[in-house]
Amino acid sequence: MILAPSVLSLDYTKFNEQVSILNENVSWLHFDVMDGHFVPNLSFGPDILKAFKKASPLFMDVHIMVSDPAFFAKVFYEAGADSITFHYEALENDEEVLKVIHQIKSYGIKVGISIKPKTPTEVLKPFLDEVDLVLLMSVEPGFGGQSFIEGTYDKLEVLTALRGDRQFLIEIDGGVKGDNASNLIASGADVLVAGSYVFKGDMIANINSINNLK
Ligand code: DX5
Ligand code: ZN
Repeated sequence: MILAPSVLSLDYTKFNEQVSILNENVSWLHFDVMDGHFVPNLSFGPDILKAFKKASPLFMDVHIMVSDPAFFAKVFYEAGADSITFHYEALENDEEVLKVIHQIKSYGIKVGISIKPKTPTEVLKPFLDEVDLVLLMSVEPGFGGQSFIEGTYDKLEVLTALRGDRQFLIEIDGGVKGDNASNLIASGADVLVAGSYVFKGDMIANINSINNLK
């Protein structure tokens, strides 16, 4: 199991201190890009990702919650993303979705696709042979600190059945805490994103409480 702390919840007045704790205790960073259009919030531009790349060798799992994934995939690839996950709901049709998947793969990095809580898992069927990762949102995208949506377990069950022997990773994002992490792992999640849970209070204890679950 991989824990991917969402740096949306990092305390930016303690950037160096918190990034060095991350560097020593996790292997992925989850980087939430929000355009203020696809979601009602605005987060980071490419220069912030470049700053993280200077401060951290960790795998940059970039989650773009944007209305123009084709445009921003190039921007964040050039800024150093190791993986780019975009939203199914941002495109008009399956053909457009496949085009963005192929665009990201052409960069030689990992590609993920994400669906919002209300989007049925079945819409992903045409893409499951093409992606390295599927991100199930367990909160409405846009903000950290929201409550986990329990219906995510049903979607996780559908997705693990659809996966069969394909190798893509299943990532859960939103409202992940110490008390639901073990259930999620037991239900087939490979990567857990946690923001507010990791950065509030004792970061090392918070990280270990999930890492030790493995
Ligand atoms: C929400 C983001 C999530 C969020 C997770 O739109 O995609 O990654 O930052 O934060 P928590 O763990 O606090 O829900
Ligand atoms: Zn995210």
